[in-house]
Amino acid sequence: MVVFDFDIDDPADDLEISVSDPASQAAVNDTAINQDPFTEVSLQHLVDCLPSLISCSPLSIPLSSGGEVTLARRDLFDARFQLINDEVNDEQKDNSPELGFLNAPSDLVQGVYEGGLKTWECSLDIVDYLHAENPVFEGRRVFEAGCGTAVPSVYILQNLFSGLPHGKETHLHLQDYNAIVFELLTLPNLILAWYMSPASKAYRDAAAHPSPDETPLPPADASIRAEIPITLELKTAFLSSLEAYGIRLRFFSGSWSSFDLHQSGGTYDIVLTSETIYRTDSVGSLIDLLQSVSPTVDSLTSRLSISDGENSSQSYLCLVAAKIFYFGVGGGVTNFVEAVEEKEGRVETVWEQKVGVGRRIMRIQWS
Ligand SMILES: C[S@@+](CC[C@H](N)C(=O)[O-])C[C@H]1O[C@@H](n2cnc3c(N)ncnc32)[C@H](O)[C@@H]1O
Repeated sequence: MVVFDFDIDDPADDLEISVSDPASQAAVNDTAINQDPFTEVSLQHLVDCLPSLISCSPLSIPLSSGGEVTLARRDLFDARFQLINDEVNDEQKDNSPELGFLNAPSDLVQGVYEGGLKTWECSLDIVDYLHAENPVFEGRRVFEAGCGTAVPSVYILQNLFSGLPHGKETHLHLQDYNAIVFELLTLPNLILAWYMSPASKAYRDAAAHPSPDETPLPPADASIRAEIPITLELKTAFLSSLEAYGIRLRFFSGSWSSFDLHQSGGTYDIVLTSETIYRTDSVGSLIDLLQSVSPTVDSLTSRLSISDGENSSQSYLCLVAAKIFYFGVGGGVTNFVEAVEEKEGRVETVWEQKVGVGRRIMRIQWS
């Protein structure tokens, strides 16, 4: 098991690396580890798995331009509470390994759990970049690989829901190694994005006058801690808003190498991933995935000639946000860039943090 304190949920502020178990460190270096197969997890299943209450806290994302973006994020202790509850209600179940991962700082166990239950700091960098660049999301196909708590997708969904329905179909597809991450964090965070947006106003207004024994709904304010009751009415209203805005949320679990592009509906216009290049022996499958989900140069050229006024920066965006080097696991930017260039990809640094542990956002283009 590898423990490195890089996620923003870790109260320990130091960036010291510790390898807690040398025996399992050997397993980390074993490339023959079993990889979970591609599986689509339906939105309805994830909605059905929601608990009756979600507690959330503000996640403040400082912007390079000054100011900040604030998103609501499910509290980790709340996800832990749900897991414990599920276990109590399901006596057949063995002690859930996920509970161990939620309790431990930032454990990565190759082929078992890959860190998606916590929020990692480069995901915030992507939000900073997207906020500055302001790409069009409406009507696009967006894919977040290794999403975990999905901070960039949460930002995008909040952005989509902050306007009026636009009559275009927008696909927001999320991928994570572990399906349990979708249940515990990804979908709850997406629901919070909707709840904090103007799109949930009709629902909030309708529920604003509860009977004397019910507590009023918290305001749609991402900057305060809140407990949001997850009622049948809320779930229905969330699904109706997705329908009204033409937003198609889809969730795919399993390893990058097993990703089925045919089943996901083809290539994407915007591809995002953060904190996913830490392991040298899985970076190849990530790069293959990024390349396969990206449109070919030919299809991009023809798409550009069809859509008037669209420039190339709006037509395709593939962003990889990462630390320069991942101590303890060995991956990092240098290895990644070399591997992309071997596949005829071009890497451009579009955002950089040099102070402290260096971080970068790289834009990839495939020739
Ligand atoms: C360190 S977490 C980062 C999570 C999130 N992107 C963030 O920045 O907060 C790495 C993510 O990549 C995914 N991942 C890692 N290796 C993977 C693999 N071989 N196949 C599929 N997903 C993988 C994990 O499920 C996890 O969500």
